[in-house]
Amino acid sequence: MNLKELVGEKAAEYVKDGMVVGLGTGSTAYYMVEAIGRRVKEGLDIVGVTTSNRTKEQAEGLGIPLKSVDEVDRIDLTIDGADEISKDFQGIKGGGAAHLFEKIVADNSDKVIWIVDDSKMVETLGAFPLPVEVIPYGSQQLFRTFEQKGYKPAFRKTESNEKLVTDAGHYIIDLHMEVIEEPHSLATWLDSLTGVVEHGLFLDSVNTVIVGGENGVEILEA
Ligand code: A5P
Repeated sequence: MNLKELVGEKAAEYVKDGMVVGLGTGSTAYYMVEAIGRRVKEGLDIVGVTTSNRTKEQAEGLGIPLKSVDEVDRIDLTIDGADEISKDFQGIKGGGAAHLFEKIVADNSDKVIWIVDDSKMVETLGAFPLPVEVIPYGSQQLFRTFEQKGYKPAFRKTESNEKLVTDAGHYIIDLHMEVIEEPHSLATWLDSLTGVVEHGLFLDSVNTVIVGGENGVEILEA
């Protein structure tokens, strides 16, 4: 069993009968969704809320009952991957271009669990490029703003070198900052920019991190 599978299986154990469960996106979340799908076949009674078209297709294929985020009162638990997690439990997400829907689902969840392998645990955020989702109109102006700040922006591209379009119809600009000293003030600034829909800084969002390493699974409470 690889580390992503290990933490995905572990996280699925937190899901109990009657829960509304946010289902994250990415190669680690994939294993969690598979594990929940197996438990649903065995009789687990839950409703899932997906965070991307990819996860929706997977969950539908597994027969997990689904509702949209707008059809539920509240989400009991969301389980998702992450790209980087700092020592003080702040995170970067959006490597899979799903952070807008992921943040909406996380913000409406009573509990959030992230599942990662230990390569994602870092001292300070920023080595992983920070995704910023922007509306296409005016995005070149935002790109210039980021360039002038020295953030080394790059539009996320598809394999055929087109600008990637997210599930919500936006572009992503990745910021290559190397080190993010003050994530809260950066988040406040990004939130203030017209045309920025959402960025990948998930601050004070997670409750529990399940980390897979060569010695097995470690559970960290934020
Ligand atoms: C999706 O946009 C992301 O936020 C993912 O949760 C994150 O990129 C982790 O993905 P992996 O588990 O594939 O590394």
